[in-house]
Amino acid sequence: MKLIVADDYEDLSRHALAWLRGALAGIDIPTVVLPTGNTPLGLYHNLATGSKGQFLANARFIQLDEYQGIPREDFRTLAGWFWRILLNPLSIPKTALISFDSSARDPDREAVRMEAVATKTDIDACVLGLGLNGHLGFNEPGSDFASQTRVVDLSADSIKSNAAYWGDEALVPRRAFTLGLGTLATSRHTLLLVSGPHKASILATALIGPQTPEVPATCLASFRDATVIADRSAIGAMPRGRSRHPSN
Ligand code: PGA
Repeated sequence: MKLIVADDYEDLSRHALAWLRGALAGIDIPTVVLPTGNTPLGLYHNLATGSKGQFLANARFIQLDEYQGIPREDFRTLAGWFWRILLNPLSIPKTALISFDSSARDPDREAVRMEAVATKTDIDACVLGLGLNGHLGFNEPGSDFASQTRVVDLSADSIKSNAAYWGDEALVPRRAFTLGLGTLATSRHTLLLVSGPHKASILATALIGPQTPEVPATCLASFRDATVIADRSAIGAMPRGRSRHPSN
């Protein structure tokens, strides 16, 4: 696993753009998985600026995660967020996003459908954010490293961190769909973006702690080609000389 230390959030977002462009270079119709959240906003802003996101014009996007049990047209779906923040600004056609049906009558079957979509062709590049509890997507602590796409109960931490988006903790859906850790592990290239001092402790655990399902992000060390881009404020708590991963 490669670690890139960015000077600050802007530098992280620049590195992320360069990483994504490099990961997809030469692929006519790339398949990508991208996260929602605050951390990738700088990357998405960069992509939507001028023609910088042009290399995604023909891409297929597979949704990473989604709330379960809300109407598809609810503006708070993660798919809705993704359209507003990235896909609409890039003029991506509607058919290019393969998304979970948040209102599916049979959620388990919907998860099986998306697992089949995600594993039918290689995911060329996958970008992830790091939850304060170490989650990737909605693979909460305790997720098996070989887990497939499924419906999960959101952890108390995730409900809390999603409360701002919903206005109140009580309004946050309790269940969600997520691509599994085993599903994500099939990606040809994976990038974890981590910014801010509030992530320093969990980042240190993710990088130098023992691999355990209790910290889902520790699975990245076994991925095919994983890169972490973290800004200096997120690197803060890392004990010097103890990283098991080389830094560039
Ligand atoms: P954030 O979320 O980018 O808003 O910090 C990351 C996550 O919880 O997966």
